[in-house]
Amino acid sequence: MSFKIAIDGPAATGKSTTAKRLSRKLSFIYIDTGAMYRAMGLYFIENNISYEDEETINQVCDDIDIDIYYEDDEQHIKLNGRDVTKLIRTEEVSKYASVTSSYLKVREKLVALQRKLAEKNNVIMDGRDIGTVVLPNAELKVFLTATSEERARRRYEELLKKGQDVTLESVSHDLEERDHRDSTRANSPLRQADDAILIDTTNLSVDEVVEKIEELYNEKRGK
Ligand code: DC
Repeated sequence: MSFKIAIDGPAATGKSTTAKRLSRKLSFIYIDTGAMYRAMGLYFIENNISYEDEETINQVCDDIDIDIYYEDDEQHIKLNGRDVTKLIRTEEVSKYASVTSSYLKVREKLVALQRKLAEKNNVIMDGRDIGTVVLPNAELKVFLTATSEERARRRYEELLKKGQDVTLESVSHDLEERDHRDSTRANSPLRQADDAILIDTTNLSVDEVVEKIEELYNEKRGK
């Protein structure tokens, strides 16, 4: 039987870095669901569709093909056959993904894909609604948090390293806006599942978080 680990939490709590590292240690498949919402967002940007235009977005959803594949142990994301992995990490795409992920049609499409990918494999999946909606029966659920200052600092440094022209203030503002939107939307808002274990990562290194989750995994598996 396969084992599923769900990792949820607000932006920049270290979900992807942690999940990626843990998946290597455990030889699990890592699925970054945020990348899928980002790829959809990129499609809307490239096709000049406003993020507010839910009607057009609903109409074009069926024209969008999202797929993931792995190369050198890294998840790559394809949008209609084109590798867009590097194009989806901008603040504009973050905003589009956050707004359009509140639309039911977008969620239905991606949740179906996510469940299919997790069907027969040991997976670590990260996102906002993995423990509550996508994999409610996951054997282990973790919810990561960190203070808003620490999260803004992490995201700012990450974007600077990628050569993007941002300020700490603008990153902090965008994160706050996005967290609020992600947690207050009607469809599958960001929420800690009742059976998820909370880990505050503010003062922890990635390795420490990975170790904690690995311990929890060993406890669950040993049962
Ligand atoms: O994790 P991320 O920052 O790459 O996600 C981008 C946006 O996608 C995020 O603001 C909300 C949305 N998202 C979602 O609604 N559900 C998920 N499971 C993952 C991401």
